[in-house]
Amino acid sequence: MTDKPWGGRFQEELDAIAARFSASVDVDGRLWPQDIEGSIAHVRMLGERNILSEDDVEQVVAGLERIRASIEGGELAWDPEREDVHMNIESALIEAIGEAGGRLHTGRSRNDQVATDMRLWTRQACQSTTADIDALLEVLVDKAEAHVDFLMPGYTHLQRAQPVRLAHHLLAWAEMLERDRGRLVDAAARMNESPLGSAALAGTTFPLDRDATARALGFDRPMRNSLDAVSSRDFLLEAVSALAICAVHLSRIAEELVLWSSQEFGFVQMSDAFTTGSSIMPQKKNPDMPELVRGKTGRVVGSLVNLLVMLKGLPLAYNRDLQEDKAPVFEAFDTVHDCLAVLSGAISSATFDRDRMAAALKEGFLDATEVADWLASRGVPFREAHHVAGKLVRQAVQRGMTLSELPLEVYQAAHHAFDESVFRALDMETAVERRSVLGGPARARVQEALAELRGRLQARRGA
Ligand code: ARG
Repeated sequence: MTDKPWGGRFQEELDAIAARFSASVDVDGRLWPQDIEGSIAHVRMLGERNILSEDDVEQVVAGLERIRASIEGGELAWDPEREDVHMNIESALIEAIGEAGGRLHTGRSRNDQVATDMRLWTRQACQSTTADIDALLEVLVDKAEAHVDFLMPGYTHLQRAQPVRLAHHLLAWAEMLERDRGRLVDAAARMNESPLGSAALAGTTFPLDRDATARALGFDRPMRNSLDAVSSRDFLLEAVSALAICAVHLSRIAEELVLWSSQEFGFVQMSDAFTTGSSIMPQKKNPDMPELVRGKTGRVVGSLVNLLVMLKGLPLAYNRDLQEDKAPVFEAFDTVHDCLAVLSGAISSATFDRDRMAAALKEGFLDATEVADWLASRGVPFREAHHVAGKLVRQAVQRGMTLSELPLEVYQAAHHAFDESVFRALDMETAVERRSVLGGPARARVQEALAELRGRLQARRGA
């Protein structure tokens, strides 16, 4: 008859389609390191509490270590008939060591087992994603440092607005990523509690030491409520929300790279290693990598929606629906990992075009605010100054001139306060340097921000 662990109750085999429908080892197989780690912590605690003999414990631990080695060596064949990663490993253990293997599951259920495995896996995944983010931050700091002198238009409404430094723009991307990183760190801290010992839903009659298993697995404490421990998945919602926000940020960065590498902007040249050609148009160098980063955002946002919908309306405690949590979580982490790596490579190998950026500053009247500020700093109410500057822009447009090409008489006709010194304010470098307010693009502010971020990255590398 059936070789399922619940075989006693059953007289018929699971229908083939039902078996295929419910098997999950092709997805959850990657939880094996966490599953083995969790089982070792559990069985050692069973020994310490004299629930199992020392001999049983040693046999189980040795057996699990052998299974670990055989999975690492690619020797263990996952069997979908054994449903999931937990039953594959347990069956392999019983095959390997016999009776003692059957004692491992004492005082445990797959419900607290899988919840524990997922917390361990996700905690680790948050850590490696923050490392991926740090790698991209390093790239941004390096690029920013090398381009402090590059001026470029800052935009609102995708219209040239005011001059900034390229470094300032790159550091804006870094700020977005810093917050993404912080969200992952927060999520990892909150999820760091142990469900183990909650068993199926109501704990167990065995005198387990839940503090000991929590400690052994690096959790801060055992979860307080057994029903919650086996059924809560908000730790996944938090992690994947953080990833979805991060993916949206990466998509915005990618979109700017796409725009900037167009002929229309020409601000950046992506390297050959991160662009592709066209099979029909020989001149093309397409920014496929940032386009794909932008495109893959849907997967991550989709993963979040997937999890939210899966959880909505689930009664406590465990329901099999929860098995569906793994694919979206893995997909979200894998996608963000790849996007971060691709963007790191694409940005570090890209070259920025100082001349094209400078040329873009010449058109578009980015110095109009300077004219208004010049007047306002001489006592003219800003609203009036703004109006006067607007009139000057209109006249410059009519004459096909820039603001610095307009003769002084035109300025003075627009407002009697104008004198020669207004032209000095129109210089782009001056305009950027005068924006020395905290958080602004002036050289000193950008250099402070760079040093500050460098320091933070260094401290994290040291930690
Ligand atoms: N594969 C299952 C999951 O991922 C393990 C828990 C199964 N528990 C159960 N009561 N059927 O959720």
